[in-house]
Amino acid sequence: MARITAGVAASHVPAIGAAIDRDQVGTEYWKPLFDGFGWTRDWMSEQRPDVVILVYNDHATEFSLDLIPTFAIGCAETFAPADEGFGARPVPVVQGHPALAWHLAESLILDEFDMTILNKLGVDHGLTVPMSLMFGQPETWPVKVIPVLVNAVQYPPPTGNRCWALGEAIARAVASFDEDLNVQIWGTGGMSHQLQGPRAGLINTPFDIAFLDRLTTDPHALRKIPHLEYLREAGSEGIELVMWLIMRGALGAGVKELHRHYHVPASNTAVGHIVLAVEP
Ligand code: DHB
Ligand code: FE
Repeated sequence: MARITAGVAASHVPAIGAAIDRDQVGTEYWKPLFDGFGWTRDWMSEQRPDVVILVYNDHATEFSLDLIPTFAIGCAETFAPADEGFGARPVPVVQGHPALAWHLAESLILDEFDMTILNKLGVDHGLTVPMSLMFGQPETWPVKVIPVLVNAVQYPPPTGNRCWALGEAIARAVASFDEDLNVQIWGTGGMSHQLQGPRAGLINTPFDIAFLDRLTTDPHALRKIPHLEYLREAGSEGIELVMWLIMRGALGAGVKELHRHYHVPASNTAVGHIVLAVEP
C-alpha cells in the first residue's frame, strides 16, 4: 500500500530560485536562509520518498483570470518549468506519477471534492522553488511529483477548513492505492507577506511562529482562521498558508515536528519551513 510518511511546508519565494540559479546561495544575504534547509536536504536523501504530492498555487502563470480552478490536480507524465517572464528556470522537468494522480483524482471526486484535472501544466515558482530548496541542483529530480493546485490568487480562495478536509481525503486516497510507495505531502507558500499596496512588506513574526507551533500543539484551531484574519495578520499573500493545512490535514492526528526554520526577510517576505513526521 502507498502511505504518507511525512509532511513538509516551505515558502516558495521566487527570489530564492533566482539566488540558486545565479549561484548566490553562499552570499551574506542568502546564506542564513539556505542554511536552515540543510537539515532537510540531508533528511530527504535518507528518506528517499517515491512521490511528493506538492500543494501550491499557480501565480497567474498557467491560469489567468479567464480560468480559476479552486482545486486542481496534475495528471500528466511530465511538467515543464514555466516561463514567468524571465525565461524558464534552468531546473529539470518534473516527472509526474499519472497512475497515482488519476487514482487521487477519481478517489477525491467520488469523495465529493470537485478537482479540476490538468493533463498539461507548466509549473511556476510555487512548485520549482520548494523542489530546489529540498533537493538542490540535481541533473534530474529524485522524486515523482503530483502537483495539487489551490486558488490563492483571486478572492474567494477555499477556507482553511476545506483545505484540511481535502488533505484528509488525499490521505484516504493514498491509503487505497495498491502499490508500495513512500509518499510525502508538501504545503507551500506563506508565511506572512504582502507584495502590494500600502502595507507591502508586512511581516508578522508572532503570527508566523504561533502558526508553526500550532501545527503540532493545536492544529484544529488553525482550521478556523478566517480569510480576514489571514489578510489582517499575515498580509494579502499570507492566505497562501491555507495550503499548509492541506498538508497538515493529510498527516492525521499524530505528528512529530522534526525540524523548523524561520527567516526574515527574503524578498520582503517571511520564510517559514517545517518538517512533520507521521507518528503511527
Ligand atoms: C513573492 C512571490 C510569491 O509567490 C511568494 O509566495 C512570495 C514572494 C515575490 O514576488 O517576492
Ligand atoms: Fe506565492
